[in-house]
Amino acid sequence: MTNNNPIGLFDSGIGGTSIWTKIHELLPNESTIYLADSKNAPYGQKSKEEIIELSIKNTEYLLNHNSKLIVVACNTATTNAIKVLRAKYDTPFIGIEPAIKPAVNNSKTQIIGILATKGTLNSELFNKAVELYQDTTIIEQIGHGLVQLIENGDTNSTEMFELLKSYLNPMIEANIDYLVLGCSHYPYLIPQIKKILPPHIKIIDSGEAVAKQTQNILNEKVGFSNSKNVSTQFYTNTDSKVLSEILNNKYTIQQKDF
Ligand code: DGL
Repeated sequence: MTNNNPIGLFDSGIGGTSIWTKIHELLPNESTIYLADSKNAPYGQKSKEEIIELSIKNTEYLLNHNSKLIVVACNTATTNAIKVLRAKYDTPFIGIEPAIKPAVNNSKTQIIGILATKGTLNSELFNKAVELYQDTTIIEQIGHGLVQLIENGDTNSTEMFELLKSYLNPMIEANIDYLVLGCSHYPYLIPQIKKILPPHIKIIDSGEAVAKQTQNILNEKVGFSNSKNVSTQFYTNTDSKVLSEILNNKYTIQQKDF
């Protein structure tokens, strides 16, 4: 079974490119179309209803561009809206959720930390997942302000470093040995986070697991591409500068009002 249509991805902004990169590395023959809804970032502060409405808008745009599969490259949109999307559309959806399971399974101290948005940490999906791990202490921290700084291109600023210290130091004191990054923007903070965490604390995110899952769904249900013309489309509804920079200025970004 072959299918040369693109894989669609969306995020509240530029963060989902951390997922796009993993998918592109694993599946270089697949065309992709990425939507950065930066005009509406951050999603993490919005109500469930608003997140669902925005997720439907992004999905419709990707389906109108013939996406064969949609990756919700945003923990906040996944944990609040993926159930509605799956019920509404026939296209397969892959979501991204905080990687609590591998952290809990490998933790020696049985204390782990998770950094995510308010929308993710308050969601029913996330809280149901946490309930499965009663024997582990899970320290939840909302990453107030982090997404806005990344969206503004201030990832390496002193302000970012100070904010991260204020969120991570209490976790270090509580003796965590795993830090779960529960937002697709946060992998871009790993160099800063590594300056704060002692080396024995491991950092995990869900990017590789999502890429593997995408491969599985293409294999089982959708079909791989066998086209020689791989296309890579990026759309943003704000200024394209920061999105372009995060992709090392290697791709053309189209500015559209979606
Ligand atoms: N990148 C998103 C996530 O994975 C959302 C960040 C936001 O817009 O608040 O949660």
